[in-house]
Amino acid sequence: MNRFDGDVIVVGAGLIGLAIAFELAERGASVRIYERGEPGRAASWAGAGMLAPYTERIRNEALLDLCAASLAEYPAFVERILAASGIDASLQLDGVIYVAFESDGLQALREQAKALTARHVESRMLDRSETLRAAPWLRGGVLGALLKSGEGRVDNRRLGRALAVACEARGAHIEHSSSITVECDARRVLGVRTDRGFVGAGAVVNACGAWAAQLAGVPRACVPPIEPVKGQMIALATPVGFVRRATWVPGAYLVPRDDGRLLVGATSEASGFDERVTAHGVHELLHASLGAAPALAGFSLTESWAGLRPGTPDGLPFLGPAPLDGLFLATGHYRNGILLAPATARLIADAIETGAASALEPFSMARLGTKAVDPQ
Ligand code: GLY
Repeated sequence: MNRFDGDVIVVGAGLIGLAIAFELAERGASVRIYERGEPGRAASWAGAGMLAPYTERIRNEALLDLCAASLAEYPAFVERILAASGIDASLQLDGVIYVAFESDGLQALREQAKALTARHVESRMLDRSETLRAAPWLRGGVLGALLKSGEGRVDNRRLGRALAVACEARGAHIEHSSSITVECDARRVLGVRTDRGFVGAGAVVNACGAWAAQLAGVPRACVPPIEPVKGQMIALATPVGFVRRATWVPGAYLVPRDDGRLLVGATSEASGFDERVTAHGVHELLHASLGAAPALAGFSLTESWAGLRPGTPDGLPFLGPAPLDGLFLATGHYRNGILLAPATARLIADAIETGAASALEPFSMARLGTKAVDPQ
């Protein structure tokens, strides 16, 4: 029996949109996903897949709680996707190391360790020799590190492929359309118009990431103020196991993949929808990574790319009902979209299925002071 009031359309087949569609399809909803590009691409493909709310030093309590909840949901999330798709997204919650080369940095890590203990989050300070045992490729001048045990990484490109297959397996079809326009009347959302005509829906989810403000046909009061924030990344070909854990060094993070690739990220640039890799961006990443680990200097640079994070004015995502009946937002995840996919999917599915959206209040568009769309 379908408990949903009409079909659901998810616009955007990044990890967030796919995760929502998968969750809804598993709950019995009839779901379609529309995407202008390729599923699982854009920021979902460009990220490093780090699952690290504490290393990201998120200051907003509501966002930190959401990120922590989503991290805890990750093992079951990838298991369900594996069961539906047969693709293992390589989740490794083996800890993230944050290293310090200066005494101020080390002091900041000690203070963070205390704050994490107060939150009952497991972490441990490593002295210089413990740090070099954990990461022998670091420069000898390292002073110490903070290891956050429960954080880790997922292979986000694999996760994107797995979710696309899992959605199809559960009957949530992904359709390409070069133009997607939301249609609504004064009271509510009606559906979307695509290259193939109009498709009606009881609910439409804007999961367009950095492009969420561009979704056509949406009343002005429902347009989230999303700005793209570019992140450039590079990959080095290292021997498998050369770097064992995701590691933050001053100015960069390093995330190993099973095949030996070491991802180095990321710049943070407000440059509109420019997705170019620049000499300056690559220079910044190499400067930070080789400064911390000269041992990386001889490896080949095999890949460089850039993605656009969906940034918001206050750093919080827009999640839940928009001020128009039937329209939902799931965007603005900024640096934490991959991490937030499981919790976003669960909470957006709850909001659509039961109308329960109180957990999403801190992330509502209402915080901007916008009014619900006047039906007159
Ligand atoms: N989550 C890391 C980044 O956005 O660069």
